[in-house]
Amino acid sequence: MLFSDKKSIPALIALFASFIAVKAGECTVPASGDGITDDSPAILKAFTDCQKDSIITFTAANYSAFTPISLTDLSNVTVRLNGNLLLPNNMTRVQQAINITQNQASTYATPWFYIQGTDVQILGSDEFEWGQFHGFGQQWWDIGNRILRPQLATFNVTNGLLRGLKVIKPIAWGWNLPGQNIRVENHFVDAMPNNGTRTDTVVSFNLSGRNITVDGYYGHNGDDCISVINGARDIVAKNGYCGFSSHGLSIGSLGRNGAEHTVQNVLFKNWTMEGAVYGARFKSWTGGRGWADNITWEDITLIDVSTGIFITQNYYDQDKGPRPPNNEKTSTRISNIFYKNIKGTLTTNWTDGTCISNPCWNYIDGITHNTGIIFDLFPETALNISAVDIDIKPAPQFAANGTTVLCDPSALVPGEQDGLGFKCHNGPLIITPIVVPTSSALSAYSASTVMMVLVAAFSAILSM
Ligand SMILES: *[C@@H]1O[C@H](CO)[C@@H](O)[C@H](O)[C@H]1NC(C)=O
Ligand SMILES: *[C@@H]1O[C@H](CO)[C@@H](O)[C@H](O)[C@H]1NC(C)=O
Ligand SMILES: *[C@@H]1O[C@H](CO)[C@@H](O)[C@H](O)[C@H]1NC(C)=O
Ligand SMILES: *[C@@H]1O[C@H](CO)[C@@H](O)[C@H](O)[C@H]1NC(C)=O
Ligand SMILES: *[C@@H]1O[C@H](CO)[C@@H](O)[C@H](O)[C@H]1NC(C)=O
Ligand SMILES: *[C@@H]1O[C@H](CO)[C@@H](O)[C@H](O)[C@H]1NC(C)=O
Ligand SMILES: *[C@@H]1O[C@H](CO)[C@@H](O)[C@H](O)[C@H]1NC(C)=O
Ligand SMILES: *[C@@H]1O[C@H](CO)[C@@H](O)[C@H](O)[C@H]1NC(C)=O
Ligand SMILES: *[C@@H]1O[C@H](CO)[C@@H](O)[C@H](O)[C@H]1NC(C)=O
Ligand SMILES: *[C@@H]1O[C@H](CO)[C@@H](O)[C@H](O)[C@H]1NC(C)=O
Ligand SMILES: *[C@@H]1O[C@H](CO)[C@@H](O)[C@H](O)[C@H]1NC(C)=O
Ligand SMILES: *[C@@H]1O[C@H](CO)[C@@H](O)[C@H](O)[C@H]1NC(C)=O
Repeated sequence: MLFSDKKSIPALIALFASFIAVKAGECTVPASGDGITDDSPAILKAFTDCQKDSIITFTAANYSAFTPISLTDLSNVTVRLNGNLLLPNNMTRVQQAINITQNQASTYATPWFYIQGTDVQILGSDEFEWGQFHGFGQQWWDIGNRILRPQLATFNVTNGLLRGLKVIKPIAWGWNLPGQNIRVENHFVDAMPNNGTRTDTVVSFNLSGRNITVDGYYGHNGDDCISVINGARDIVAKNGYCGFSSHGLSIGSLGRNGAEHTVQNVLFKNWTMEGAVYGARFKSWTGGRGWADNITWEDITLIDVSTGIFITQNYYDQDKGPRPPNNEKTSTRISNIFYKNIKGTLTTNWTDGTCISNPCWNYIDGITHNTGIIFDLFPETALNISAVDIDIKPAPQFAANGTTVLCDPSALVPGEQDGLGFKCHNGPLIITPIVVPTSSALSAYSASTVMMVLVAAFSAILSM
C-alpha cells in the first residue's frame, strides 16, 4: 500500500456507507527516504485526507519537501512532526519553485510552507534530531544570494500551537505568524553560518497577528530575532536566548514608504542577548505613519551587545545613500514604551556580518563602544517612555569612559524628560529619578481610552 494510513478497512467502509464527506481520522505521511523523490505530494495528500478532526504523523525520517506546499482549511488538526522537512539542497531549484508557487505571499517574501486553518497544532519531536526544518541556507549566504529567497513558513491559524520545532540553516526569514491565539513553545533556530562571518537577513519570527505568545526560544541568527510588525496586538515573547549577530528584539520596521502601520501591547520578558547588534530595538522609517503603543522590554541581559536600547523613528537604507527628506514631516508615533531591568555589557565591536556598506548600516554619528542607549526620536511623536533599573556597562577595556547615551533633548515632548529615567543628551548615562510616573495613570484606562487620550494629546501637541 502506498499510503500507510491507520484507518481500518471497516472504518473506511463505515465512512463510505454513511456518505459522509468529512475528512477525518489519522494519517501517517509516508517518506520516500531516498533523498530524491519529492515527498511534497504525499504531504499534501495526508493533509487533504486528514483535513479535519485528525492527527497527522510524520515518522522519524527525512522528508524531501521539494515543492512549496499550501495546507489550508485545516480544522482541529494535530501534526506530530517526528521527522524532518528538507527543502531542496539546490538554490536554483528553490528559486524556480518559489517563483511559480501559488502559496500566499507575505509582505516581502513567499513562504515554502503555508498553513492556514483553525485549531492547528504542530508538535515537534522531543528528540533534538527530529522536528527539524532544513533550509540549507549556507550556500545562499556564502554568495550573498538574495534573489527569490523563500520565507520558511506562514502559520496563519486561529488557535494554534507550534511546539519543539527546530529551524536549521533557513535561507532567510523563518516563521511568519499572522494568525491569532497562537502559542509557540521551545523554538530553536540555528542560522549561524559555518564560517562565522555572514548570515543574510535571517529573521526568526515575524509577528503580525493577535494574541501570540512565544515562550522558550534558543537561537543564533542574523537580523531580528523577533520582529513584531504591522497589525500585531497582544504579543508576549518570553524566556529566550538570541545569539550570534542578532539584530534584537524588535518592533518594526514600521511605516516604510510612508505606510500607516500600527502595533499595540507587546511584552518582551526574560531574554539573554549575546553578541547581538541590539538588545531592545524599535525602528520606524523616516516619513512613516501610524503608531506603536504599550511596548515593554523587561529583564533583558546583554552580553557583548553593540547597543543595549535603541529607538529610531528615522530609519532609512543607509547603504542606498543619504537620509531621504521627510517632506510630510510625519513619523510613526510611539507611546507607553517601557524598559525595565536591562543589564549587562556592551561589545568592543559593533560590526556584524550584514555590513555591506561603509559605514555599516548601523552606524550613527557619535556612536562609540560606550554607547548603551540611542534614542533617535522624531520631534513630538514620542510620548511616555521610561527606563528603570538600567545597568549597561561598556566592555572592560572601555570601562574607563563609562556608558554613554545618544539622545536629542529637543526631540522630546515637553515634560517628557521627567518620566524618562535618564538624562536625554549626547553624553554620559546619568540615571534620573522618574518624577511623573504617567504610566500607572495611563494603565488605569482601557486601551481604547488610552488611544483616544493619546490621539488627543498628539493632536494638541501637533497643533501647537
Ligand atoms: C478534534 O479531533 C480529535 C481527533 O484528532 C477528536 O478526538 C476530537 O473530538 C476533535 N475535537 C472536536 C471539538 O471536534
Ligand atoms: C536528515 O537530513 C539532515 C540534513 O541533511 C542530515 O543532517 C541528517 O543526517 C539526515 N538524517 C537521516 C537519518 O538521514
Ligand atoms: C539544481 O536544480 C536545477 C533546476 O531544477 C537543475 O537543473 C540542476 O541540475 C540541479 N543541480 C543539481 C546539482 O542537482
Ligand atoms: C520567474 O518567473 C519569471 C516570469 O514568470 C521569469 O521571467 C523568470 O525567469 C523566473 N525566474 C526564475 C529564477 O525561475
Ligand atoms: C565566509 O563567507 C563569506 C561570504 O559570506 C566569504 O566572503 C568568506 O570568504 C568566507 N570565509 C571563509 C573563511 O570561508
Ligand atoms: C490569513 O488568512 C486570512 C483568512 O483566514 C486571510 O484573509 C489573510 O490574507 C491571510 N494572511 C496571510 C498573511 O496569509
Ligand atoms: C489567547 O490565546 C490563547 C492560546 O495561546 C488562548 O488560550 C486564549 O484564550 C486567547 N485569549 C483570548 C482573549 O482570545
Ligand atoms: C528565563 O528564560 C530562560 C531561558 O532562556 C529560562 O531557562 C529561565 O527559567 C527563565 N527564567 C524565568 C524566571 O522564567
Ligand atoms: C519580517 O520582518 C523584518 C523586519 O521588519 C522584515 O525585514 C522582513 O521583510 C519581514 N519578513 C516578512 C516575510 O514579512
Ligand atoms: C500592555 O501590553 C501587555 C502585553 O501584551 C499587556 O499584558 C497589558 O495588559 C497591556 N496594557 C494595557 C494598558 O493595555
Ligand atoms: C568586528 O567583527 C567583524 C565581523 O564579526 C570582524 O571581521 C572584525 O575583524 C571585527 N573587528 C574588530 C575591530 O574586532
Ligand atoms: C575615552 O574617550 C576618549 C575621548 O573620546 C578617547 O580618546 C579614549 O580612547 C577613550 N578611552 C577608552 C578607554 O575608551
